[in-house]
Amino acid sequence: MSDDIISYSSDKTHLSDKKGIVTSINTKDDLSAEIVSLRPNSFKEYIGQDDTVETLKIAIQAAKMRSESLDHILLHGPPGLGKTTISHIIANEMEKNLVVTSGPALEKGGDLIGILTNLGEGDIFFIDEIHRIPKIVEEFLYPAMEDFAVDFIFDKGIHARSHRYRLKQFVLIGATTRVGLLSSPLRDRFGLFRTLDFYSVEQLVIIIKRSAAILDTIISENGANELARRSRGTPRIANRLLKRVRDYSQVKSHGRVTRQSVQAALELEGIDGLGLTSLDRHYLKTIIDFYKGGPVGIEAIAATLQEETDTLVDVVEPFLLKIGMVLRTSSGRRASEKAYLHFKIKPSL
Ligand code: ADE
Repeated sequence: MSDDIISYSSDKTHLSDKKGIVTSINTKDDLSAEIVSLRPNSFKEYIGQDDTVETLKIAIQAAKMRSESLDHILLHGPPGLGKTTISHIIANEMEKNLVVTSGPALEKGGDLIGILTNLGEGDIFFIDEIHRIPKIVEEFLYPAMEDFAVDFIFDKGIHARSHRYRLKQFVLIGATTRVGLLSSPLRDRFGLFRTLDFYSVEQLVIIIKRSAAILDTIISENGANELARRSRGTPRIANRLLKRVRDYSQVKSHGRVTRQSVQAALELEGIDGLGLTSLDRHYLKTIIDFYKGGPVGIEAIAATLQEETDTLVDVVEPFLLKIGMVLRTSSGRRASEKAYLHFKIKPSL
């Protein structure tokens, strides 16, 4: 187990040092105490992402054999697939501290330098949403990642002097939903880059059963299967919905989670048979009804829905693209035939 998990919030004057609990402004959902308790602590307990896990296990073992630290790691993929969980596991397996922050929390160079200069030898420094780091802060990361040093500049113009401060050799883990927004100098400084995929129904069934056991909840095979099918390929969603279904089953069906109790509980949550949320459905219906099936630009969809473009691109679209409900073309988004079928609407082609 790692000794400590230290988190840095948006309030830069406040440095919290808490054992086992991580809080961070932009990853509240991800890091709530309950989700942390369902999180696997080792790769042995971790289900899915087989290639990524294998790559990381080899890198960790090799680093340990050479008594070196790991290369910097960039993890890419939609929210909820395990980027944070994997960082916790790496820290545990390397028996090092994990220090957590996020791109938007690092507003000034000093915010980053304050963290870097406090890192110990081999510590794991996790930056969530690394694509949202301001450019001015990002520039301090380059020498930190490459030479384990930060350059302080004193005075301006001809009087400018710089002082190089040596850092301990740390491991940066960057997590991003949008690798395309990372500058190439930053991207190129990561030795390991992996994209996480959506989970299969079979993998989610195993995760749900494991979580149900931790939560002391009895779940039938059909119940686990139904919940897995409606979890958008995402363990975080599966674990969150499991809790709602557990509440429902406790009150309405003697505590046992069955296919029927999953169906009834998820109907109340507004989750349909494919696991689509009301935002997913609104997004698709906007393309179908408002823009006659598309093609339509993302900005136009966002304006019609009065939603942030980033939410649609990061949260809504990846799964809809994965299951073939929406198509991205050079002229914009189009609803697929599958989307029309889902809403029992005749395609207007
Ligand atoms: N809980 C959340 N994600 C998990 C995973 N990938 N394996 C096991 N349990 C999990």
